[in-house]
Amino acid sequence: MNKSEGEKKTNEDEHSLTDIPGIGPGIAAKLEAAGVYDLMGLAVMSPVTLSELAGIGEAVARKAIQAARGLLKLGFMDGIEFSKKREDVAYITSGSANLNNLLGGRGVETKALTEAYGAFGSGKTQLGLTLAVNVQLPKEQGGAAGKAVFIDTEGTFRPERIMQVAEGVGANPDKVLKNILVARAFNSDHQILLIDKINELIHEGEPIKLVIIDSLTAHFRAEFAGRGQLADRQQKLNRYLHNLMKMAEQHNLAVYVTNQVMANPAMMFGDPTTAIGGNIVGHASTYRMYFRRGKQGSRVAKLIDSPNLPDNECQFYVTTKGIRDEEEPE
Ligand code: GTP
Ligand code: MG
Repeated sequence: MNKSEGEKKTNEDEHSLTDIPGIGPGIAAKLEAAGVYDLMGLAVMSPVTLSELAGIGEAVARKAIQAARGLLKLGFMDGIEFSKKREDVAYITSGSANLNNLLGGRGVETKALTEAYGAFGSGKTQLGLTLAVNVQLPKEQGGAAGKAVFIDTEGTFRPERIMQVAEGVGANPDKVLKNILVARAFNSDHQILLIDKINELIHEGEPIKLVIIDSLTAHFRAEFAGRGQLADRQQKLNRYLHNLMKMAEQHNLAVYVTNQVMANPAMMFGDPTTAIGGNIVGHASTYRMYFRRGKQGSRVAKLIDSPNLPDNECQFYVTTKGIRDEEEPE
């Protein structure tokens, strides 16, 4: 039903791309093809990108972006408004109270990017698999009642493991598997393209609440191996992380990424390893954890450089049922 002329629109959802001056149906179609479906998508674009994508002048593009931002009332907000915006943040339990507490109490959160880096076998993938199951749980059980997307760059996704973890929380293993959308990313370009695909799926109504990227950096590391390629790699990785964060905020979903480590011979004390992508990934991550093997089969997670939480450490275990506080009995 059409709204009568002059009636004040109050809800951002009621506006469409074509409400913006300079954006007709043709340009709107181009934008949608590029994964920009709504005013928020437009509002967060840069004039140059929009101009190139839509084939319009930069001045028109800038005006269109400003108009979108105006309609969305982006900019400063007071504390009450801010806390309202945070109200719809959802949390996904890791399966371990210790690990949840490390992350502020309730696990991995939406509108945020959580990174785990550490050596092989430290539990990064196992946490990803556990979260892919737990996101499906109802809110009262620590889930977000949504689906998971698992972007697999290393061929480590294991349906059998998902089924074991699902059984561990008393869920139907087949149903749980069906709610995990798995894509194998063959190279970094493909991995980047998959963001558009996720935006499309959400647009089509898929209730995706978690996106897992295991591993975030492996392809980038392999493809930009030469001397002198580091700046290019970091730039590409930076743009990718930015787009991941944008997706997380726009669609109120959680992003969990894993990252490998490399030996850092310059470091003389402590654990001589650093995360691939270094500061670029570190700055983009809302929560950054370092995983290592602990005593007697345990794992230790350390929170690194969190803006609002202390840099604590905690212990957890990888069990048949997924991530847990306690080791499973023999
Ligand atoms: P890379 O991807 O190699 O960098 O390592 P990662 O950090 O992703 O390691 P991952 O999460 O795959 O952890 C693998 C470890 O989890 C194994 O070495 C086992 O110790 C443990 N693990 C995996 N599956 C099971 C299981 O079914 N039961 C138990 N008890 N432990 C498991
Ligand atoms: Mg792994």
